[in-house]
Amino acid sequence: MIYVLGSINNDISVEVDRIPNKGETVLADNYSMGLGGKGANQAVAIAKLTYRPKESGPAVKLIGRVGNDATGAELVRQLNAHGVDTEFVRSVNRATGTALVAVTPKDNRIIVYSGANYGITKSDVDEALEHATSKDTLLCQLEVPLYIVDYALRKAHSIGMSTILNPAPAVGKLPDDVYYNVDMIVPNETETQILTGINPQDAQSEAAAIRAFHAHGVQFVVLTLGARGVAISDASSLSAHIPARKVKAVDTTGAGDTFVGALAVAYPHVGMYSFKEACKFASRAASITVSRRGAAESIPTAKEVYELYCNEIPKQKKEKND
Ligand code: ATP
Ligand code: RIB
Repeated sequence: MIYVLGSINNDISVEVDRIPNKGETVLADNYSMGLGGKGANQAVAIAKLTYRPKESGPAVKLIGRVGNDATGAELVRQLNAHGVDTEFVRSVNRATGTALVAVTPKDNRIIVYSGANYGITKSDVDEALEHATSKDTLLCQLEVPLYIVDYALRKAHSIGMSTILNPAPAVGKLPDDVYYNVDMIVPNETETQILTGINPQDAQSEAAAIRAFHAHGVQFVVLTLGARGVAISDASSLSAHIPARKVKAVDTTGAGDTFVGALAVAYPHVGMYSFKEACKFASRAASITVSRRGAAESIPTAKEVYELYCNEIPKQKKEKND
């Protein structure tokens, strides 16, 4: 079982040609509203990307909070529809988390109102992990309070679970204790810069940033580098760069979440993949997300990712023969 501790947001997205200047108003081309939040998106990615007979039940349990309101109830309904177990998604008397997402042809800008996401408690974690075992994984991000993330990682580590941290959004350096309980860290370029002080823009700076995370005791490091792909290292024999698939990016919202969720599914602990193959699988999944609009809705299914692989194999063989 994969446990995801994280945020659940109502994403309100607009597509604009450019971000307005100070005091300026611009008109949006498209408007949409739907399930988002890093915790929710990653849980949906895990549900959609896991091959599992229906009768075995959900592969992922989300630990989080929504508001005691119609929006919260609707987001929980959507999570269930995607196959996420919401037994540990509780409601609280605060507004459901909301994200304002502005998508431009080049990138996106997001403002999050945390609301109910900050109502999560240590007993939520205790209850959810009561029956967890060393075969299970805990995946966290930083859109819920850091002391809760710290508590959950420590608890998971003491049970012997695998732990993955997507330190997003990063607001400052992380305490050493947090790193101590993390097996795998998956930051993007901005988060890497904030956490290590190194901007990973070429092979040399990427390697330096990776070394900085290893120095904190983290075994698996995966730097996501947008359209440039990922740089990975397992602290011993493997360090590699996996280029991203070339696609027309329509909306990158949720690319990182798809990548992290897919990686949690394919993590070597599960026993099916090597670390490098797991990252390649995650990168292919994320490349589909960027070619679609929205967050949770844009995440592909396992079948779609495997079809992509199958289409790539004849191409790779041809390239080898040419
Ligand atoms: P976001 O916040 O936009 O969801 P992120 O900043 O957390 O994403 P990125 O590093 O931008 O994370 O993207 C994660 C992964 O998604 C990349 O490592 C890459 O594999 C894939 N990806 C992102 N952008 C593109 C793109 N334009 N084309 C192809 N793949 C992409
Ligand atoms: O990572 C994308 C997510 O970040 C969006 O869905 C938004 O809710 C913010 O949390």
